[in-house]
Amino acid sequence: MVKTVNTLILGAGAAGLMCAAHAGPGVLVVDHAKAPGEKIRISGGGRCNFTNMGCDPEAFLSNNAHFAKSALSRYTQWDFIELVDAYGIAWHEKTLGQLFCDGSSKEIIAMLISELEKAGATLWCKTEIGDVAWRDGAFHVALVRAGEPVRVKAKSLVLATGGKSIPKMGATGLAYRLAEQFGLAVTETRPALVPFTHDDDGLKALAGVAVEGRAAAGNASFDEAILFTHRGLSGPAILQTSSYWREGEDVLLNLCPERDLKECLIEAKRASGRRGVASVLAEHMPQRLAQAMVERLGLTGNLADQPDARLGEIAKAVQAWPFRPTATEGYRTAEVTLGGIDTAGLSSTTMEAKDVPGLFAIGEAVDVTGWLGGYNFQWAWSSGWAAGQAI
Ligand code: FDA
Repeated sequence: MVKTVNTLILGAGAAGLMCAAHAGPGVLVVDHAKAPGEKIRISGGGRCNFTNMGCDPEAFLSNNAHFAKSALSRYTQWDFIELVDAYGIAWHEKTLGQLFCDGSSKEIIAMLISELEKAGATLWCKTEIGDVAWRDGAFHVALVRAGEPVRVKAKSLVLATGGKSIPKMGATGLAYRLAEQFGLAVTETRPALVPFTHDDDGLKALAGVAVEGRAAAGNASFDEAILFTHRGLSGPAILQTSSYWREGEDVLLNLCPERDLKECLIEAKRASGRRGVASVLAEHMPQRLAQAMVERLGLTGNLADQPDARLGEIAKAVQAWPFRPTATEGYRTAEVTLGGIDTAGLSSTTMEAKDVPGLFAIGEAVDVTGWLGGYNFQWAWSSGWAAGQAI
């Protein structure tokens, strides 16, 4: 069977579905998954953190820090909120501008499908994507739909198959392979928004402890929860930092960022030198963590036994702890892929490949990666919309 369409969108995730609703008539969206928007479904603990009220380009990593600006400014978080409101989907701000559905992320998927249907687009799930070729002014794509081979001819082809994170959910490097096939460069890709692992059994014993802390790597620093796990470190501050971390580097941890801990310890020593160091630390962090810090530092005696300089060292160990991860948990659990299709080859207004008219790349497949907190979906909506407008 041969099918001719105006636009073939590869990938029915956040970006592909958004693009399909805006790309005009004759759109076919294909995906090998059983259902569209699987990552939307599981996102935000099933409530989808669908955007961020503070969405601005500063919250995105890319080789070209300016690339995302055009799409983000033309289809903003407010545009998406308006769409969500128009569908009567109830939402709330959880923290730091992060907007979640009150009910279920399935409402966002249903909304996108409804928009896609209103636009007259066709969606095929359970469809495998084979060879892609360009000849006689059109893209020719070999598909296998429910076991049946289908050849699709399309004027425009949109790469929207996302990144490599969570292969178990169907993530593949297809967009990168196809981009390279058409002469587009792909920047180095790495797992991001991902927990760190380490081999320190002492720290593993702290599994379950959470602290409001600060984690810093590269030129970035995040004040949010840090969570000790059986495998390493997680929690929002850690996930954010992972996007800026390089193997072999330290992450600087501050487990008590709100206080001058040295001052607190010195004051406590003056007030009551018989107290133990752990009991004072426990006023500023969970008891188990305070005890573990004292043990790690090999402290004996009470506060009065510690010279002020030693109290300064203790404070430093807690507030400027150079933690060396062994690795990250990798694509198995990473929320996103850092890097991707090099923006140098794409128009920032249309997402079209500069040297391959009719070829577009959107969403996570592109070298634009947002912070944790709804930024990555906003990039999917904005870039999908921008390509849709241009097609
Ligand atoms: P996405 O990955 O959504 O879609 C790609 C589609 O292509 C998939 O449907 C896939 O099946 C299909 N595909 C891939 N390879 C294929 C192939 N070879 N053949 C056919 N089809 C193929 N972000 C956020 O802003 N807020 C949040 O709350 C969360 N939460 C979250 C939780 C978890 C567990 C993860 C893993 C990720 C998040 N994210 C997030 C990130 C967010 O899910 C991600 O950035 C977007 O889904 C990216 O949208 P895309 O459409 O680009 O790719």
